[in-house]
Amino acid sequence: MTRGAVSDAGETRGFFVTLEGGEGAGKSTQALLLKEWLEASGRRTLVTREPGGSAQGEALRSLLITGAAERWDPISETLLHFAARREHLRATIRPALAQGRWVVCDRFADSTMAYQHFGQGVAADFIEGLYDTVVGSEGPALTLVLDLDPELGFARIAARTGDGGRYEEMDRAFHRRVHEGFRTIAEGAPERCIVISADADVWTVQARLRAAIEARLGPIANG
Ligand SMILES: Nc1ncnc2c1ncn2[C@@H]1O[C@H](COP(=O)(O)OP(=O)(O)OP(=O)(O)O)[C@@H](O)[C@H]1O
Ligand SMILES: [Mg+2]
Repeated sequence: MTRGAVSDAGETRGFFVTLEGGEGAGKSTQALLLKEWLEASGRRTLVTREPGGSAQGEALRSLLITGAAERWDPISETLLHFAARREHLRATIRPALAQGRWVVCDRFADSTMAYQHFGQGVAADFIEGLYDTVVGSEGPALTLVLDLDPELGFARIAARTGDGGRYEEMDRAFHRRVHEGFRTIAEGAPERCIVISADADVWTVQARLRAAIEARLGPIANG
């Protein structure tokens, strides 16, 4: 049975879904609205984020997203992301799924492939090897990629205060590579990834996300 489906006995199991996409695509906004929807249907839901999501992960987050853009060597940076991810899985994601919760994670390993491989040139094999060891079979069952022109994403976040500083400092060409990278990742994993156009108002995008989840899992309402 697919995790998250309702069994014959009526129990609901945990389900791991990730939201991916570039800066300002709407991941954090949409994650909270998905939680409202899932909880209204009786599914206990945890929204969490990367880098971060646990005490150790959040400590590493502050090292990763603050300071100068060139602060880290890209391989060091990749290792830090996977260290944070390991702690996030161990302390937060795995226990929540074991309790039957849905986990909606704002960025996960696809962001490392998009930013560190497509954006910064770290070898894809290196990242895939780390994924196998750090995440293995515990990765998301579904990934929703919010697709938005990076220029529009930057326009959205121009007025927003937040802690996303360091990656936002990287140049436009970098963000275009990241954007294309997410599309390439999704094309390579169609059984897991669904690309959602994010160039619409918040509730239109939310409706697209909900429809995508139901297309994979069946009706959510009253589940
Ligand atoms: N569909 C939308 N249309 C217009 N503005 C939006 C939309 N979705 C989100 N916003 C606004 O754009 C900004 C960026 O949204 P949000 O923080 O959800 O993006 P994000 O993908 O989480 O960004 P980051 O990658 O920086 O974490 C916020 O100020 C949010 O209120
Ligand atoms: Mg965000």
